[in-house]
Amino acid sequence: MSGTGTQVGAFQGAEAPPDYDDHVVRLFILASVFWALVGMAMGVFIAAQMVWPQLNAEPWFTFGRLRPVHTSGVVFAFGGNAVIGTSLYCVQRTCRARLPGRFAAEFVFWGYQFFIVLAALGYVMGVTQSREYAEPEWLTDLWLAVVWLTYLGIFVGTLLRRREPHIYVANWYYLAFVVAVTILHVVNNLAVPLAWNESNSVSLFGGVQDAMTQWWYGHNAVGFFLTAGFLGIMYYYLPKQADAPIWSYRLSIISFWSLVFMYMWAGPHHLHYTSLPDWVQTLGMTFTIMLWMPSWASALNGFMTASGRWDRLRTDPVLRFMIVAVVFYAVATFEGPFMGVRTVNGLSHYTEWTISHVHSGALGWNGFIVFGAIYYLVPRIWGRPGMHSRAAIEWHFWLGLAGIMLYVTAMWGAGVMQGLMWRAYTSLGFLRYSFLDTVIAAKPYYLMRFLGGLLYLGGAAVMAWNVWRTVSEPQPSTAEAAAPAAPAE
Ligand code: HEM
Ligand code: HEM
Repeated sequence: MSGTGTQVGAFQGAEAPPDYDDHVVRLFILASVFWALVGMAMGVFIAAQMVWPQLNAEPWFTFGRLRPVHTSGVVFAFGGNAVIGTSLYCVQRTCRARLPGRFAAEFVFWGYQFFIVLAALGYVMGVTQSREYAEPEWLTDLWLAVVWLTYLGIFVGTLLRRREPHIYVANWYYLAFVVAVTILHVVNNLAVPLAWNESNSVSLFGGVQDAMTQWWYGHNAVGFFLTAGFLGIMYYYLPKQADAPIWSYRLSIISFWSLVFMYMWAGPHHLHYTSLPDWVQTLGMTFTIMLWMPSWASALNGFMTASGRWDRLRTDPVLRFMIVAVVFYAVATFEGPFMGVRTVNGLSHYTEWTISHVHSGALGWNGFIVFGAIYYLVPRIWGRPGMHSRAAIEWHFWLGLAGIMLYVTAMWGAGVMQGLMWRAYTSLGFLRYSFLDTVIAAKPYYLMRFLGGLLYLGGAAVMAWNVWRTVSEPQPSTAEAAAPAAPAE
């Protein structure tokens, strides 16, 4: 694929012939913006609970019940809607084919929102199977399986109807996301309900096998949900916004196959120093270190696609969002293999260092690449000449970046401090610090994280306002907003 002129503010009518189904893409994008606010507000709230524990209200609004509302809210609702929406836009364009059957796509949209609401209500009511990132109980899981298989059908159906001989690489990443999530979801949730009218169930796995299945799922949720799906976004929307073909198509294919092969084996790094057999931990650690290569191959491909256009970073905030996202992808995928080394994990595990790693990936990579794609898509799918306010995109960018820096550095500092305090001994061999000492020492860092989260949420609110103004007004209201964000070349 070669990029075709795609500056912000320059809607290309030729790109969206009327027979593409963009209605459902619009729904997914609006849902993503809505859930971004809900999920991140929940993140800020639970961050506040860590600073002011009196904010915990028994039993519904405690940290334990709201935490999965946050994680599912941002990963599955904000991120999931964005990946599905962007994939449906991309697959139609790159295949020059319409989605098969309008009803099916709308079913996926409404069915997915229903799943999110069902899951979140369950969490606050205390209905959970206690598997991280897969907390919903069996009935909700069954519903998601139906919705997800329909999505798979639509995606594959569009590929089969394609009028382009070649399947563009972004579709490979999206397809890996859809297929792998199907397998992960089904296997991880194999369970026996206590009764057909009972919400609770018992896992089919027990003991260390259960832990391994959970973290095979958990790590691949990162690999195929938070990585492959978002790489699909990068491989289509970054070249479009940069107005350049992907730097090395061959590298993108090599990194695809090595990524999907290696991710599947790295799960044991979540279970270092547990009763998992030693050789399994070593195997997981080896694949974890190897994962650095395919990850950086994609990061390199992203950077090099924008090379020769670096001047645009000053003037095009949308491209800047995408490039900074790639920077954070490189950061998180460098830190991850490092943390997967058993001795390093001995220090980082159970500490806020993990939370720092998670959020440099989540806020920097997942958040920023989605924001970039939303700014790219909104004017195009609503047929507007550009976003309502370019200044608001700038504000969003700087608020978001300041928020990430505060969040990540605070948790990194807190994490290393906790790890070192937990393993400090006196000369007589006693622990130097009580656990409470380490909690008290972390408090200033929690406050800093809360402030960082507020800034990031503020940026997302600015985006929601900008999107709303863009879609509700037929014409941009200011001359500045009407001007292209990037100079024509
Ligand atoms: C080469 C790529 C990566 C590797 C090898 C890797 C490795 C790791 C390791 C070793 C941990 C700590 C496990 C523990 O001590 O319990 C971890 C945690 C985590 N990582 Fe990564 N990481 C990578 C990229 C990413 C990216 C891009 C994201 C995106 C957001 C991400 C999200 C997470 C999450 C959510 C956790 C926390 C899991 C939990 O305990 O709940 N990782 N990762
Ligand atoms: C306003 C921004 C955000 C704030 C203030 C925030 C805050 C938090 C807090 C306080 C936790 C609990 C940490 C703990 O248990 O010690 C958490 C966990 C988590 N958050 Fe966020 N978050 C934000 C945005 C996001 C986004 C955008 C994503 C994903 C796209 C995300 C993904 C996660 C994940 C996966 C975990 C679980 C980490 C683990 O178990 O290791 N967060 N977040």
